[in-house]
Amino acid sequence: MSLEPPLPLYVDCDTGIDDALALAYLLASPEVEIVGIGTVSGNVSAARAARNTLDLLALAGTPRPVAVGAAHPLAGRFDGGAPHVHGDDGLGNHPLPGSDAEPVAGDAADLLIRCARAWPGRLRILAVGPLTNLAEALRREPELPALVSDVTIMGGAALVPGNISPVAEANIGNDPEAAALVLAADWPVTLVPLDVTLSNPLEESDRMRLLTSGRPVATALGGMLDHYFDFNATFYGDRRSALHDPLAAAIAVGAVVPAVAPRVEVIVDDTSGPGRGQTICDLRGRFLGHPDQPGAHVRVVLSLTEDFAPHLLDRLLAL
Ligand code: RIB
Ligand code: CA
Repeated sequence: MSLEPPLPLYVDCDTGIDDALALAYLLASPEVEIVGIGTVSGNVSAARAARNTLDLLALAGTPRPVAVGAAHPLAGRFDGGAPHVHGDDGLGNHPLPGSDAEPVAGDAADLLIRCARAWPGRLRILAVGPLTNLAEALRREPELPALVSDVTIMGGAALVPGNISPVAEANIGNDPEAAALVLAADWPVTLVPLDVTLSNPLEESDRMRLLTSGRPVATALGGMLDHYFDFNATFYGDRRSALHDPLAAAIAVGAVVPAVAPRVEVIVDDTSGPGRGQTICDLRGRFLGHPDQPGAHVRVVLSLTEDFAPHLLDRLLAL
């Protein structure tokens, strides 16, 4: 058992079924202590995401500060989310027991800046929704990159197609202007794109283990995953689901180690053409594990050393 104190972690999310899996995983992870959670419009509205997050934390018996963040992307308006993926409520139309927990005062960018100042140089950031709050925090506090340890982002598609356009992944494509600012900022970023999240699925047998575990959080997750499996089956061809956000969480925690993850230049297309939202990763000559690009600060995770689902299940079933 490690004697290291847990690392302070700020999570930015659009809770969402796989966001809920990521949050539960983090609550079960001794390596980190969640010190703040901000929500953003993506899968659902930022307000709904906060409600879902607060109710999940209450079910787990682990209250944490939750702040409602940006209602709309930097340019344009929130489009109503992804009920076909996450259900009308974001949780697969499988409501959690309601709680009377309320968000803290101030918005998500404000909470992120307060956390960064409280743990200077130590705070780790995990972003698993559109990057609007992080971009806003950078605007309000230009010293933010120097105040945090590192940033892990679930987002983008390096060598595979997008999931909301032929080239754009949802978290990047729902606010490309914010993503461009966040990926260009001078802090170490680990990008966990569709390349690796789609190739590490959860199976129906895994879902049944959660559902029948008798543990409140795992059982709730197993229930909400039913809806997510229906959607994911439309492209996998059978009932399983991608593990986007929990995989990014496990990489942020350090419990899952990437196999191939070169540091390369990454540019976000924020033009209005067909490439809008694409993460253009300069992987020339590097995708088989070749050395990093000198000066690049974005590590793009392309593969893992081991299957992720067994590790995820172990932690979720212990919560
Ligand atoms: O593209 C997958 C990502 O978009 C995940 O973070 C999911 O929760 C949605 O936000
Ligand atoms: Ca998400």
